[in-house]
Amino acid sequence: MSARGEFSSRLGFILAAAGSAVGLGNIWGFPTQVASNGGAAFVLVYVILAFLLAYPVLMAELIIGRATRANMVDALGKISGSVVGRATGIWGFITVSLILSFYALVAGWMLAYFLQTMAQMLSLDTVSSWLTGDSVTRNILFCAIFLSLTAGIVTGGVSKGIECWSVRLMPTLIIIIVALIVYVTFQAGAIDGWKAYLLPDFSRVLDPALLISAMGQAFFSMSLGVGTMLVYGSYVSKKERLPSLGAYVALVDIGVAILAGMLIIPAMYVALHNGVEIFTESGALIEGDSLIFTVLPSLFETMGGVGVFVAFAFFALMVIAALTSSISMLEVPVAYVVENKGVGRKRAVWLLTLTVFIISSVIALNMSHLFGFVITLTTKYSQPLLGLALCIFVGWVWKRDSILAELKQGNEGAQHSLFWKIWPWYLKFVCPVVIVLMFYLSIA
Ligand code: TRP
Repeated sequence: MSARGEFSSRLGFILAAAGSAVGLGNIWGFPTQVASNGGAAFVLVYVILAFLLAYPVLMAELIIGRATRANMVDALGKISGSVVGRATGIWGFITVSLILSFYALVAGWMLAYFLQTMAQMLSLDTVSSWLTGDSVTRNILFCAIFLSLTAGIVTGGVSKGIECWSVRLMPTLIIIIVALIVYVTFQAGAIDGWKAYLLPDFSRVLDPALLISAMGQAFFSMSLGVGTMLVYGSYVSKKERLPSLGAYVALVDIGVAILAGMLIIPAMYVALHNGVEIFTESGALIEGDSLIFTVLPSLFETMGGVGVFVAFAFFALMVIAALTSSISMLEVPVAYVVENKGVGRKRAVWLLTLTVFIISSVIALNMSHLFGFVITLTTKYSQPLLGLALCIFVGWVWKRDSILAELKQGNEGAQHSLFWKIWPWYLKFVCPVVIVLMFYLSIA
């Protein structure tokens, strides 16, 4: 076994884990969901679910990771003492690799749009239209470039790769998003967007469809179930208090999602003011890829000379958000292969990247059949079920004493803490029931 890496500081861990959490899910997925699910009512439900359901599962992952100091497969094997644990770990490993393979395709589009803004500044019109034209060649090429960037960072290891880059990229991301919010807010029409975002439609709060979307969004956004947080937790120093670290990560994740809403929804209403169509025929706000790749670019065009710089900042934001997430996904299989198969880190990284790239290419070649299918399979089915499995392993199988012993590392008085009074039974009884119920509703 090779020596394991460790995050060099508390901030380093928080930024890396928040970097994993903050991704396309926050900046693209969240505002879209808000728009189609009752505005601020969705935000409220989301915040509650994120704390009541996602945070406890996040804590389960962090605690397992730090206690076992291992990748997901070995970690679940250790705490359950059975092959069922290892099998669950392998299921997580496969799920995260599939998530990365579609995520990298989407991130590749962001990269292409980002480069297009530069091509536009240089008046390279042919390049420009090729970059935004939807071709299989472009999709595969940019997916490859994005995956190479991801691999390049992960080969550096925990503190010199993942942490070092997260510490640079996350503050940049926050600066860009705040600057864009300020800019957009001062454009004509933005106020209507703020109203649409902030005025809640409470008639929808208890709508099962809204609750299910919020749960799915929270699990995806906090990178749960598949071992990303577990493996990052395994690199946390024994001196840290895990419950507060987890809370910071959840807060940053939720905070950035809310900020993204403050950017995207007002931006859409500015677009409306400038004559861009932002509603579908049924009257809902346009969402998904048409929002990012049609509505927003049309908005940037209507902004005159500054438009191209706004577009540059916006797509830079998307690429950064995607990159700090994809490195955390790749680290899951990498940690397993390095620790279990005795392969060197560099080799493991490139081998796994190649595997993911092959899967991405297969998806890119069969976009209409596979893209939606892989997303549904991994995020709608696999992730909640893996989350449930984690609750069961930690709540029912793992010894309570071992969990407390782990929490005491970094906090002598852990057994008297509020966290210890609530979390263990909560994770044991409440979380599994809620997850099962929501899962049933989502597929029924
Ligand atoms: N949370 C990230 C986002 O919001 C994506 C992500 C990173 C992820 N690691 C994950 C999603 C693991 C699911 C599972 O975009």
